[in-house]
Amino acid sequence: EVYDLLVVNGVVVTDTETGEFDIAVKHEKIAKVVPRGGLSGVSVKRTIDAQGGYVMPGGIDSHVHLNEPFIMAGGRCADDYEPGTRSAIAGGTTTIISFAPQSKTEPSLLAALAETHALARSNCYSDYSFHALCTNAGPVAISEFPSLRAAGISSLKFFMAFEDLQLHDDEILDVLLQARRNQMTILVHAENGQVISWMTKQLEKEHLFDPKYHVNSHPPMAELEATSRAIALSTFIDVPILIVHVSQPAVAAYIHEAQLKGLPIYAETCPQYLFLTREDLDKPGFEGAKCVCSPPPRSTADHEGIWRGIENGTFTIFSSDHCPFIFEDIEGGKKSSISPEYPNGRFQYVPNGVPGVETRLSLALSADRLQLQKFVEVTATNAAKLYGLYPRKGALIPGESDADITIWYPELDSFKLKNDMLHHNVDYTPYEGQTLNQWPRYTVLRGQIVWDRDNGGVLGVKGYGQFLERGISSLAGPLRPEKDWNPRDF
Ligand code: URP
Ligand code: ZN
Ligand code: ZN
Ligand code: ZN
Repeated sequence: EVYDLLVVNGVVVTDTETGEFDIAVKHEKIAKVVPRGGLSGVSVKRTIDAQGGYVMPGGIDSHVHLNEPFIMAGGRCADDYEPGTRSAIAGGTTTIISFAPQSKTEPSLLAALAETHALARSNCYSDYSFHALCTNAGPVAISEFPSLRAAGISSLKFFMAFEDLQLHDDEILDVLLQARRNQMTILVHAENGQVISWMTKQLEKEHLFDPKYHVNSHPPMAELEATSRAIALSTFIDVPILIVHVSQPAVAAYIHEAQLKGLPIYAETCPQYLFLTREDLDKPGFEGAKCVCSPPPRSTADHEGIWRGIENGTFTIFSSDHCPFIFEDIEGGKKSSISPEYPNGRFQYVPNGVPGVETRLSLALSADRLQLQKFVEVTATNAAKLYGLYPRKGALIPGESDADITIWYPELDSFKLKNDMLHHNVDYTPYEGQTLNQWPRYTVLRGQIVWDRDNGGVLGVKGYGQFLERGISSLAGPLRPEKDWNPRDF
C-alpha cells in the first residue's frame, strides 16, 4: 500500500485528545493515526516532519463575507472568493462558510444561492459552503427552505439591526418556524436596529460624526436586548439559534443562563472582541474607521469576560467575521464616508466590518490563553458539528475525515504582524503591529499541501477548493423534536 502523505513527529491535537501520533493520508482522507514511529517503513509519496509541532484539524471559519455583490454594510466587499480563500489557507483555515446574500428586493433565497455559486465556483483555494442570508422573509423565501436543504444548505442568517437588512419580529417567527420544520441552524445578528438608528440621530444632532461615535451608536444595551429577544422568540418556537459575533460578557452571561436551563442556544465570538478595543476607534483623523464593525469592539475588561466565555463553553465557535473593505477606497471602502463637509467621515456611513480570516488562528494561539483542545474545538470541530460537516471536517478520524491538517512549528520567534504578510485584498489589518509567536507552517487540504510558510507560501491552486454539501447540525436541537409547533398549545 502506498500512502499519499505522512505527517510524522508531531503532537496531534484534536478537540478530545492530545498525543504523539503520526498520520497517514490516502485519497484525500485520513487513513491512519498511530503512535509516533508506527508508520516507519511504509511506502509514501511525501512526508512532512512536524518537528514536534502541533498537528491539528484544519481551521473552519464559519463566518466570512466574500464578494457580496450588492452594497453591503454600506460598502463594497474587497475580497472575492479568490483572495478571500487564499488568505484563509495561508492562515491555516481549510474550510470557510460565507454568505449567499439576498437583497431586500430579491424574493428568492435560491436565486441568491445560484448567484453566489457562480461567484465561488472554480475560484476557491479552500473548501467552502454558504449560509443563506435572509433579508426578505416573504412567502417565496419561506417556501424555499426544503429546497435549500436539498441543495446542501442547512443554515441561515438574519439581522435584527440595519434598516435595509433587518427582519421584524413576525418575520423572525416565520423564519424560526420554517427552520424548525426543516432542521436548519439559524444565525442571528442580535442588535436592536431601532436603538442604533435612534442613537445615531442623537449623536448627529450634537454634531458628533467621527468614527469613534460608531461605538456610542451601538450601546451594549442594544445587543443585550436583541439577544434576549432572539432567545425568547426561538424558545417560543423551540428551535436552536446561534447568536453571532457576541461582543460583551453581559451578553455571554445571559446566553450562559439560557444554556444552563438546557435551551439549545449557541454563541459565537470573534477576534475583534478579544484583540481590539473602543480606543482603537479613537485615533486622530479617520484612522479609527479601520476598526468600525458591528457590534463594535468594547473594553479591555470585556476581553477577559469573552476569554472566560470561550473557556467555560458559552461560546460554541470562534470565527473571524471577515468583512473586508479597502481603507483608501473612496467609492465603496472605508473612506466612502469622507466628504469636504465631513473630513473625518461620518460614522453612520463607514462600512461596517474588519478583515480577519487569515489572522484568526494565529492571534488566538499566540495569546496562549486557551487549552489546545479547546482551541481546536472552537476554531474547527464545533463549527463542523453545528453546521453539518462533522466528522468529514473538524476531526482527524481515519476513514471518516478529509485530510485537512494545520501544522504549527513550536519554535517561532515572536514577530510583529504586518499587513504585507497577508494574502487578502485589503490595504490594512486592524491587528497591525500585534505581537505573534505562531503562524501555520503547513496547511494541508484533502491531502494536498496548499500552504508552506517557508517554501513557496501559497502552493494551492484556485479551483481546488470544493463546495461542501452540508447536512443537519449534530449539536442538540429542539427540546421536543417529535412534536410539531402548534398555536393551540399556548
Ligand atoms: O460589522 C460587521 N460585523 N460586518 C459584517 C456584517 C455582519 O453583520 O456580520
Ligand atoms: Zn423597521
Ligand atoms: Zn452580523
Ligand atoms: Zn458577519
